[in-house]
Amino acid sequence: MKIKVNGKEQLIDNNSSITELLKTANVENPQLVSVQLNGEFLDKSKFGLTQLRESDAVDFIYFMGGGSGLRFITKILHTKFSKEDPHGSMHMPVYDNVAFEFKTAEELELAFAGRKPAHMYSRISNPTVEHFEQRIKAITDAVGVIALSSGMAAISNTILTIARAKDNIVTSKHLFGNTYSLFENTLGDWGLETRYADLTKPEKVSQLIDEKTKAIFFETITNPQLEVADIKALSEIARRKNIPLIADTTMTPPYIFNAKKFGVDVEVISSTKWISGGATSVGGIIIDHGLYDWKKNEKLHNDAIKFGPFAFVSRLRREVYRNIGACMSAHNAYLQTLGLETLPFRLDISCANTLKIAEFLKKADRVKSVNYPGLKGSFYHKTAFKQFGGKPGAVLTFDLASKKECFHFLNNLKLIRRATNLHDNRSLVLHPGSTIFCEYDAALKNEMGVRDTLIRLAVGIEDYRDLIADIKQALEGI
Ligand SMILES: Cc1ncc(COP(=O)(O)O)c(C=O)c1O
Repeated sequence: MKIKVNGKEQLIDNNSSITELLKTANVENPQLVSVQLNGEFLDKSKFGLTQLRESDAVDFIYFMGGGSGLRFITKILHTKFSKEDPHGSMHMPVYDNVAFEFKTAEELELAFAGRKPAHMYSRISNPTVEHFEQRIKAITDAVGVIALSSGMAAISNTILTIARAKDNIVTSKHLFGNTYSLFENTLGDWGLETRYADLTKPEKVSQLIDEKTKAIFFETITNPQLEVADIKALSEIARRKNIPLIADTTMTPPYIFNAKKFGVDVEVISSTKWISGGATSVGGIIIDHGLYDWKKNEKLHNDAIKFGPFAFVSRLRREVYRNIGACMSAHNAYLQTLGLETLPFRLDISCANTLKIAEFLKKADRVKSVNYPGLKGSFYHKTAFKQFGGKPGAVLTFDLASKKECFHFLNNLKLIRRATNLHDNRSLVLHPGSTIFCEYDAALKNEMGVRDTLIRLAVGIEDYRDLIADIKQALEGI
């Protein structure tokens, strides 16, 4: 009988199934392909049972696949390239180029239609960037991963993919300052409404959600308030209201936080931070864990009929990510892939150092209060330990008596660097009120929990004894 495969007529045996067709049609990288039957997505579990009929149209569309039974660090190190390197390179080479050449116009047409696994233009996809995405996919078991130029690009691309003007999202005012500004100013001007709740009180969140709400967005540990919401409770609300839960997990990346297990639908990460391997490069990641049925999202409903669980990543890759152009560069993907290889070890050391420093600060005379979810006395200790595998991040904050004292302390430091970043290999310190949050007035800063007496310390992987000695002398010198 005759059917159409990727738009071309093909003769196949009567009663063939999709599984049989995958074998006979010489599909490249079958583990990466998703199948559409007569324009609708077909789940893998139905391949063997679905018998093809005369005139059926089957399309093989390339997104991402893979997965293995290996453990976290082994997966990071041994995720295979999607195509064998001709020289047997151990690291994915840096494809620092723009365009990719095709042998025929027909192949180029197939690639543009997503019917051939190929790179065409590096703003849309690139082998080095794809390999970084594949490694993140391997360790998270996600449906799709997209790497971007920054954490802010990951957040903005995500919201622009799922929401339109006059829609709203629900979040908290306790957010990274630029994320608040993105929602309130940049996307606000384009018609997105942002509604704010105290996300540590989930019962208040439901009341803000209506038919125009497209997501709940939150940070797993808020920066710099260091609040920790009950993520399962937020996920249950999102499920009940049929909207996705989006988590910024910059402070708790994969290895210490299994976002899928806690019901997070979409994870966004500033890979500039921990993943880059010590502030080597700016980058961002979007991860779709495949838990949310995109048919329930007004904007992605039709994509979900065609592409099933790939609806969100497909819309990104073929529209929002492509059109906005905030792609990760090949060079940065190379650096970030190297960074990823040592992520668990750096995380372990930084988290252990943070607890030691927090315990020291608790006893220090000049320090009015110390905030770290890892401290036994912290209000968020239990929730943070449960959610983040006993490693509740490597950022702590503490209060001195005044802004003047904070500045004295910062200027006295000899080892710890005065800089605005998190999860460098070096420890970094900052006065959030006069830097990241400087554009907000006193009343708003108050609502955001950013006091003038607050210092943020992002702890690195140095020997904690040297860090404590530096903090001690800086406090004594005030
Ligand atoms: C929690 C959080 N999310 C997002 C971002 C933005 O990341 P990027 O600087 O990579 O754009 C930051 C940056 O500090 C952050 O702390």
